[in-house]
Amino acid sequence: MQKILLTGVNGQVGHALKTTLAEYELVALSREQLDLTKVDDIRRVVREIKPNLIINPAAYTAVDKAESEPELAFAINATAAQILAEEAARLNAGLIHFSTDYVYDGTKIKPYLETDEINPVSIYGKSKLAGEEAIRAVGLPHLILRTSWVYGAYGKNFLKTILRLAAERGSLRIVGDQMGAPTSSKSIADATLQLVNVWQPAQQDQSGIIHFTNTGETSWHGFSCEIVNEYNALMLRKHWPVLKTSAENIVAITTADYPTPAARPANSRLNNAKLKQVFDVELPTWQQGLQQVMKSLIL
Ligand SMILES: NC(=O)c1ccc[n+]([C@@H]2O[C@H](COP(=O)([O-])OP(=O)(O)OC[C@H]3O[C@@H](n4cnc5c(N)ncnc54)[C@H](OP(=O)(O)O)[C@@H]3O)[C@@H](O)[C@H]2O)c1
Repeated sequence: MQKILLTGVNGQVGHALKTTLAEYELVALSREQLDLTKVDDIRRVVREIKPNLIINPAAYTAVDKAESEPELAFAINATAAQILAEEAARLNAGLIHFSTDYVYDGTKIKPYLETDEINPVSIYGKSKLAGEEAIRAVGLPHLILRTSWVYGAYGKNFLKTILRLAAERGSLRIVGDQMGAPTSSKSIADATLQLVNVWQPAQQDQSGIIHFTNTGETSWHGFSCEIVNEYNALMLRKHWPVLKTSAENIVAITTADYPTPAARPANSRLNNAKLKQVFDVELPTWQQGLQQVMKSLIL
C-alpha cells in the first residue's frame, strides 16, 4: 500500500486529488499545515510522514502578481519543489509535480511536444521552469505533468468568473487570440489516479515531463461561449438564474486589447501523445470536461 503525501489540498487540483486518491493511504496537507516557503518545515514534515510518493500541486499561481513578487514565486515554485524532490530522493520515494504551458513562449504554430524548446515569457513561467529543472537535477523518479488553463467546481477560476460576469452584464469582451485547452481539475485528478496506479517509478524511462491537458483546443473566447451555452442548456432543466449574456454577445478581442502585467503565450496547445503512448492514459475532451464540471456544480 502506497503512502502518499499531497500538498496544496485547498487548491483546485489538490482538492480534486484528495477525493480521487482516497483509496490510498493519504496525508493531504494545506498551506497552514505545510508552508512551502519554509524549507526546514518541508524537510521536517516529509521526514515525519515518510511517504512512498509525494504529489505536489501546490504552487504560486497568481500569474500577474508574480511579476511584482518574483522571490515568492521562485521560493514556492522552484525552491520548494527542489526540497520536496531532495527529501523524496532521501526516502527512495517518487515525486509527481505539476507544471504549466507557460514554460513555452507560444510562438510555435503547431501544438507543443515535450521535446520542444522552452522559453517562458513571464516570471510565473520562469519560476515553474526552475522548479522542473531543480527536480530533474535531483535525479529521483519523477513525473512533471504540464497542464493548462485549469478550472473546476472548487476554487476561483475562469469558469466562475465568466458565470458571474454573464449574470451581471449584457455583453462580455474576451481574448480570442490565445489558443489552448481548458483543463478541469477533475480530469487532472482522475488521470493522475490512473498514473499512480500504473507508474513504475523504478523504470527510468517512465520518469520525465508529460503534457497533461484535456484534449482539443479553443480560445478563451471559445471557452466562454461554451460555458454560457452549457449553462443555458442545463438551466432549461434546472431553473437556474437567467444569464444576461448569451454566447452571441461575447465579443472576441485581441491580447493587445487586454493588457496584463504578465505576457501569455498565444499558442498554449500541448500535444498529449506521450501520455497515451507511455501510460495509455488520456484526458477527456475539454468540452466533456466542462460538461462534467457544470453538472457537478448543481446536480
Ligand atoms: N491554474 C491554472 O490555470 C494552471 C495552469 C497550468 C498549470 N497549473 C499548475 O497546476 C498546479 C495546480 O494548480 P491549481 O490551479 O490547483 O492552483 P491553485 O488553485 O492556485 O492552488 C494552489 C495551491 O497552492 C497553495 N499554496 C500557495 N502558496 C503556498 C505555500 N507557500 N505553501 C503551501 N501551499 C501553498 C495554495 O494554498 P491556499 O489555498 O492557502 O492559497 C493553493 O491551495 C500548479 O502546479 C500550477 O502551477 C495551473
